[in-house]
This record gives sequence, C-alpha cells and structure tokens, in this order.
Amino acid sequence: MEKTKLAICTGTACYVMGASDFLLLEDDLPDDLKGKVEITGVTCLEKCKDAAYGKPPFVLIDDELVAGATVQNILEKIREKQC
Ligand code: FES
Repeated sequence: MEKTKLAICTGTACYVMGASDFLLLEDDLPDDLKGKVEITGVTCLEKCKDAAYGKPPFVLIDDELVAGATVQNILEKIREKQC
C-alpha cells in the first residue's frame, strides 16, 4: 500500500498553534500506522492569511487540507485514507 503523505505547515501561525507537535509524530505513530505515513514539513501554505480556510494549524493529508489540525484528527484522517 502506498504511504499516506502528511505535509505539515511549519509557518509561524501554524507552528505556534501546535504544528510543532506534529513534527514529532513520525516517532510517535500508533503501531497500526507505523511505516505507512510519510511526514514532511512545508513552508507557509498561505491558508493562514484567509479566514475562509479555517484556523491554523493546517496540514495536507494526500493534498487534502485539514484546518484546526490536532494529533487526533490527523490520525483519524490518515486511517480513513488507508481503509
Ligand atoms: S503558517 Fe501555516 S498556512 Fe501560513
């Protein structure tokens, strides 16, 4: 199965709103997701500049934007993708 791609915005707005925690996810993935997720950091996705996108932190999961990301909703979304 192809790895799910998780791109974490590391721009300031996202970083201070919690994205810094997501960068550690690689080491902390639950057993069922280990080795199945490719995590990268990306520069500001420019979503923080327009409230229409929702609130930071933003991540892209296989190019799908997730606003207000938390470790919990990121893991849920990845699991959905892998079903
Ligand atoms: S800092 Fe994340 S979208 Fe701008």
